[in-house]
Amino acid sequence: MKDFWKKQLKKNKKLVFLAPMDWYGDSAYRQAVKRISPHVFCISEFYSADWLVHSKFLADSVLPHEKIEDPLIIQIFWKNPETFAKAAKIIENEKYNIAGIDVNMWCPAKKVVRSWHWSSLLINEETAFEIIRQLSEATKLPISVKTRLSFDWNQNLINFVKWLEEAWASLVTIHWRTAKQAYTWKADFTNIYELKEKIWIPVICNWDILNYTDWMQKVKNLDWIMMWRASFWNPWCFIWEEQINDEEFLKISPIKKQNFINWVYHPSLLEILDAMKFHAEKLVETKWEKKWSLEIRKHLVQYLKNFPWVKDYRKRLVTTDSLENSLAIINEIKKNFENFLEKRPSLWEIE
Ligand SMILES: Cc1cc2nc3c(=O)[nH]c(=O)nc-3n(C[C@H](O)[C@H](O)[C@H](O)COP(=O)(O)O)c2cc1C
Repeated sequence: MKDFWKKQLKKNKKLVFLAPMDWYGDSAYRQAVKRISPHVFCISEFYSADWLVHSKFLADSVLPHEKIEDPLIIQIFWKNPETFAKAAKIIENEKYNIAGIDVNMWCPAKKVVRSWHWSSLLINEETAFEIIRQLSEATKLPISVKTRLSFDWNQNLINFVKWLEEAWASLVTIHWRTAKQAYTWKADFTNIYELKEKIWIPVICNWDILNYTDWMQKVKNLDWIMMWRASFWNPWCFIWEEQINDEEFLKISPIKKQNFINWVYHPSLLEILDAMKFHAEKLVETKWEKKWSLEIRKHLVQYLKNFPWVKDYRKRLVTTDSLENSLAIINEIKKNFENFLEKRPSLWEIE
């Protein structure tokens, strides 16, 4: 298990990861992505290791998942290594069938950085090392780390990751920005290319990758990629040449070869509406309806963002308060645009 990622690397496969996303990357979102793109590896939203240790309720709510989400990696954060080790024991319980543990050394929020969590571990290397060491001793699951270039430019990324590697981290994701840059700046992966030459474990690059062409330009000597914003409304962003030419893949995913145009998958209106329906239904299945109705709004309107003709429907979807109501709106679009269902809104083919 520990060398799971190295084995994947040996297979020489291009792996893609759905980034962890607090408030978005729940079970329904992951299922919506995996229905279209079963080859994607999903990482959960972050959970506090401390909460997992102290709340059986939390563990039993967030660790069980649907088979379609496998292999699922759980992301955790906290500050003291002992708590991480205890949380690992809970996560690795066979009944949850979790494939790996990812440690969040990424989050730049000021209040958590001040309390020595998350990205502040970049300037607290000894604790970072100890967290990974104790985690690795506590569990047979592979341990990965998601982190940033540095805290504020003054630290040495290569030494930091070498330490993590020595403590038995088996995969690292580097988000191309420092913690101080938080959410600004354009990506430039130069430092990560250099890092890759100095370490053994696979390196995932993250930030600002939108599609296959982008990947080919940015990935260079790095191993794999992770995306979030590109996947928002667009579970097709993970589909590339390899999947389109794989007959086995085409049997398990509803994608259509002819919609892969200029290296980007352009879903038809019908595919988009079906994806919305699936996502809405899964969210109700996994959350209670009141919570669902508040959450689903932000997703459904995004699915239709390349489709200006449905402005009025988008307005109604923003105020939807039941699954029944949302499905009725989706059906209405289907009916009123029945001659355009095979068109691709992203290519402005509907006029
Ligand atoms: C709303 C939101 C929630 C996020 N939640 C997490 C999280 O729980 N854990 C984490 O490591 N990163 C989190 N991230 C960062 C993303 O995983 C990712 O690193 C970032 O969006 C950059 O990738 P992209 O350019 O593909 O969007 C979050 C980002 C946003 C905007």
